[in-house]
Amino acid sequence: MRLGVCTGGGDCPGLNAAIRAVTKHAIGSFRAEVIGVRDSFNGLMDDPIRIQKLELSDVTDIANKGGTILGTFNKGNPFLNESTKEKAVKATFAGYKKAGLDCLIVIGGEGTQGMSSLLSERGMNIIGIPKTIDNDLPGTDQTIGFSSAVDIVSEAVTRVQSTAESHDRVMILEVMGRDSGYIALHGGLAGGANVILIPEIPFSYTEIMNKINDRKKLGRNFSVIVVAEGCHEVGGKPVFQLGANKKQANLGGIGAIVANKLNEISGMDTRVTVLGHVQRGGSPNSIDRILAAEMGVRAVDLASKGEFGKFVVYKDGKIGEVDYTDINPSERRLIPLDDFTLLSAERIGISFGRPLDFNPRELD
Ligand code: F6P
Repeated sequence: MRLGVCTGGGDCPGLNAAIRAVTKHAIGSFRAEVIGVRDSFNGLMDDPIRIQKLELSDVTDIANKGGTILGTFNKGNPFLNESTKEKAVKATFAGYKKAGLDCLIVIGGEGTQGMSSLLSERGMNIIGIPKTIDNDLPGTDQTIGFSSAVDIVSEAVTRVQSTAESHDRVMILEVMGRDSGYIALHGGLAGGANVILIPEIPFSYTEIMNKINDRKKLGRNFSVIVVAEGCHEVGGKPVFQLGANKKQANLGGIGAIVANKLNEISGMDTRVTVLGHVQRGGSPNSIDRILAAEMGVRAVDLASKGEFGKFVVYKDGKIGEVDYTDINPSERRLIPLDDFTLLSAERIGISFGRPLDFNPRELD
C-alpha cells in the first residue's frame, strides 16, 4: 500500500499529531509506504509534483508541534470555479497517478473536504479526516484543533477579566469561527464571559446593556463580552475586513463596532482584543492529540480494508466514519438553538444578547 497524506485549508493545532498517527500506523502495522503531499492538493496539481516520502524519523516528536510539516493552502480554491474546476480535477488525478498512490488521506476543513468529496465521486481513493478550529464540519461532533482553540480563548477571557475588573471596563474579545459560534460559546463559557455573541443568535444592544446594568446593580462594574467574528445585530449583517493585500475580505471588525456602540450608549470605558491567529498556532492540547491519533489510525484502517470514500468522524463519544455521499462536506455546521452547552450557558446567567424567558438577575 502506498498511502498519500496531505493537509489542506487553514492550519490548526493537531495536524502534525494526525500526520504522525497515519505514518506510524501505516508503516508499523501494514509496512505501507507513506507519501506526504505538499501544500494541500497543490502538491499533486503542480508539475513537477511536490511530494516527500515520510519515514518514522520524519514524524518523531511532532505530535506537540503546531502547524503542519506538509504545508497547507487556503486561498483561491480552483475546484469552486466552473472555469477552472475540470482542469484542477484532471491535474490532481494526473499527480495522484504520478505519485503512484493507492489512497490519499486528506486532513482538511470544509473547502478541502468539498474537493475530496468531488475527487472521490470521480473515482479517486480518498479518506477524509476533519480538522478546523471552527468545529463547523457536518457529520462530526468535533474536529481536530477545536479543543486547543477553546483553551486559548478560555484563558484569554479569564485574563481580560482581571484587567476589566481593575479598571471598571467593558472588555470585548473577538474570536474566530466564521459563521459558527462554537469557539465563542465554548471558550466564553469555560473562561467565565458575561456576554457571548454568536452568529446563530442575532444580538440586541438593549439586551447586552441589560446584562451590563444588572451586573452593575450587583456591584460588578465590569463585563467581559466574547464576540464571534461572524455575529451580527438583529437585522444586521456579518462584518468583513479587507486583508493587507487589499484583495481578500475576511470576517472581522465586529468587536470594534460593538465596543464603540456600547461606549456610546453607556459611557463606559471599552477595550477590544482581537485574538486572531493566536487561536490557530502553537501546540495542540491533549484532547486534540488524542483525537488526531484516533482519527489517523481509523483512516489507515479504512485504507487497509479498501474502504474508500469515507470521512472519519467523532460522533456520540466514538470514532466512526460516514460516506462522503451521505454528507455535504462543504456545508457549515451551526450551533443548534437547543444545544445543551448553549442552554446551560444561558441558564447560568450568560447573556447571548437576546431576551430570556426567565429572570437571570439573581444568578449573577
Ligand atoms: O477556518 C479557520 C479560520 O481560522 C476562521 O476561523 C477564520 O475566519 C479564517 O480561518 C481565517 O483565515 P486566514 O488564514 O485566511 O486568515
